[in-house]
Amino acid sequence: MKGIILSAGKATRLYPLTKNIPKTTLKVLNKSILERIIDSFIKANIKEIGIVINGKEEKYVDILKSFHHENVNIRFFYQREPLGIAHSVLQVEDFIDKDFVLILGDNIYDIDLKENIRIFYKEKSNSHLIVKKVKQPERFGIIKVLDDKIIDIKEKPKIATSNMAITGLYIFDKSIFKACRSIKPSKRGEYEITDAIKYLIDNNYKVTFSETEKWWMDIGTPDDIFEANKYFLNKINISIEGYVDDNCKIYGKVKIGKNTKLINSYIKGPVFIGKDSFISNCIIEPYTIIGDNVNIENIKVEESSIYDTILLKDSKIHIVKSIVVDNTVYYKTKNNIFNYYYIE
Ligand code: G1P
Repeated sequence: MKGIILSAGKATRLYPLTKNIPKTTLKVLNKSILERIIDSFIKANIKEIGIVINGKEEKYVDILKSFHHENVNIRFFYQREPLGIAHSVLQVEDFIDKDFVLILGDNIYDIDLKENIRIFYKEKSNSHLIVKKVKQPERFGIIKVLDDKIIDIKEKPKIATSNMAITGLYIFDKSIFKACRSIKPSKRGEYEITDAIKYLIDNNYKVTFSETEKWWMDIGTPDDIFEANKYFLNKINISIEGYVDDNCKIYGKVKIGKNTKLINSYIKGPVFIGKDSFISNCIIEPYTIIGDNVNIENIKVEESSIYDTILLKDSKIHIVKSIVVDNTVYYKTKNNIFNYYYIE
């Protein structure tokens, strides 16, 4: 079993944050979505991995260094034109010898792949879907089920006939390639993976599914990133490994990594602070993440992730619902998009 991650989408709803940073390499808490997906592959014993990208290979290579010692082999494939998921899948055809798990690179989840692979083989499936009941089925591909069988499958229907969303986690055998080649582009001009799966159903291939109760999200908008961070922040345990001086006040669940120094600051958890950081004269409100090697002074932070240094001599700035990376503060506007300013 091999693993494929699709990361060739443009992620325009997260612009300008995703103009230079591929969505899959964005961090949730202290780890990128990409690393989280690869971790889930390793747990399921999948170590032959292909990533479909549209450029910026160096951004991935940097993150992937951490997996070298785990015998994970990673190859890149290119999708040069944004022609949809089914078209992206065709780019890895030569790499796949038998079966593979496909993960859409904006999916973040607690779902156990091993259990689903077991079902795929037990049921002798050609394609196995993992579905979850959702409140907004119009945002997803959905399936309709009768007597445990899929009787209909649709991509983002205007009026949904079921609330069973197809997560971006799939298991396929090689029949999916024929299906991807047999379909026509949808109204939005893309080769849809949902249409390829419909082709399998219509041509008597076996398409199975399991419904999951586990946590799963597809990161599309700024709000999704903040929600995913909240999920992980609510799960942290109190742990203070760094140095905290006597003038600091710390309340609630707070994690402070090794070699981090906190001077004269107020922190109210849940808050995650990485290692080797320096924090002085700051007010850190709940649902904040400070990364590794970050140096911040004289700021107030709330519901934000800071992965870069911010040093202010006098005036205090207030950072709310923002992501700070590459010398830039990306803040969420009322319309749930990002705007930005550079840190001086
Ligand atoms: C894609 C698929 C959709 C699926 C979703 C899950 O949509 O086309 O069927 O439900 O991923 O993440 P996208 O998020 O690319 O619009």
